[in-house]
Amino acid sequence: MTKLAVLGGSPVRDTKVNPWPKWPVWDEKEEKALLEVLNSGVWSYNGPKETEFNKNFAEFCGVKYVVSAANGTVTLQMALEACGIGVGDEVILPGLTWQATAATIIDVNATPVLVDVCEDTWCVDPKEIEKAITPRTKAIIPVHLYGNFANMDEILRIAKKHNLWVIEDCAHKHGGEWNGKKAGSIGDIGSFSYQLSKILTAGEGGSVTTNNFELYEKLDALRNCGRRPEPPTAASANKGEGQYFDAGNFCQSGNFRITEFQAAILVEGLKRLPEQNRVRDENGIYLNSLIKSIPGIIPMRRDDRETKESYFNFSFRYNQAEFKGLPVAKFRAALTAEIGIEVAASYTPLNKCSLYMPHTKPARHKLSEEYWAAINPERFELPVCDKIHYESSACIHHKILMGTKADMDLVAAAIRKVYDNAENL
Ligand SMILES: Cc1ncc(COP(=O)(O)O)c(C=O)c1O
Repeated sequence: MTKLAVLGGSPVRDTKVNPWPKWPVWDEKEEKALLEVLNSGVWSYNGPKETEFNKNFAEFCGVKYVVSAANGTVTLQMALEACGIGVGDEVILPGLTWQATAATIIDVNATPVLVDVCEDTWCVDPKEIEKAITPRTKAIIPVHLYGNFANMDEILRIAKKHNLWVIEDCAHKHGGEWNGKKAGSIGDIGSFSYQLSKILTAGEGGSVTTNNFELYEKLDALRNCGRRPEPPTAASANKGEGQYFDAGNFCQSGNFRITEFQAAILVEGLKRLPEQNRVRDENGIYLNSLIKSIPGIIPMRRDDRETKESYFNFSFRYNQAEFKGLPVAKFRAALTAEIGIEVAASYTPLNKCSLYMPHTKPARHKLSEEYWAAINPERFELPVCDKIHYESSACIHHKILMGTKADMDLVAAAIRKVYDNAENL
């Protein structure tokens, strides 16, 4: 039997000889676009690249309006504020997500209500949403996590019944489609991130999408120190001469603007995204078809309504009992050594996450004893999130899906090798 790489054997994939596709992807088109911005002197503030990207991304998502901003954290905050969410309000979100989904709710002085997720998709469980609704509930933030879609039909039904806003956290879902509708066009607002690991990236950056003009006006003002939306003209662009167009304040806010350098990279990256998504989707389907026959490996459930998948990473479920009792952390380490790319656990459930600790900031968040108790994440129980994170998750960067079918064969062979050798670990 071949020795496992983690025990000193040869890996299934030697990444020194056969590296994984690189991420991020760029070429001379980005170089040219960045130089164009540099030489123009228009480095920010409603410039031509930002305008072009917003228009193109709106078309791509099938929405009327896009507002871009510094990152996908501030876009969530803008979305909450545009919906008028603040003191006294509760917002329901999954317990399994990046900390920003919850932290921004606290940043607008509302209360995050963490609920459990579905074991087969890792996205928010609609039944748990219904149980968590109170007269104070104002919004739901479904997160389309990794390669999966939250059940938007059920979420929209619940939101309609209780008159709630739906803010889709699409940080992982650029281009994914539910029933033929793009992520970010289904709820009231979609929030996207362009941070370096994301499938559309400018290093940092974010956008909000909406079809609602009133929300758009607020979102645009919120990213721009509260100014009323202004037509993007050369005269209104910041040329470093302090000549900001000031149409009068619309609301209190700060500077969450994106730069022209970010927008220039996004314009080029968006042109590549449909083909990259197609390749990832095809490889994802193929790899799942291979690994499903390995005992103890369960592919994520793909709903029939997911008409186009987009993968932030390739994830699957692991059953320790079928792997001769091998704990999931040892399985991930062994697989990492075989394929030369990190196999990680899912996000830590937010009731146990070291990056989501509102109680470390009393000066900001201790608005009252009642609020202080309400924002304590430890008050929530999330058994399904716990099971996923501590016992059964395996997640691999989306660049593995940008390779060939032969690359997928190697990933499946590596999982099978760990399975065959599990008793040696
Ligand atoms: C689900 C989710 N929401 C929001 C964010 C925040 O985006 P950003 O890192 O651009 O602030 C991220 C980023 O990692 C994310 O994964």
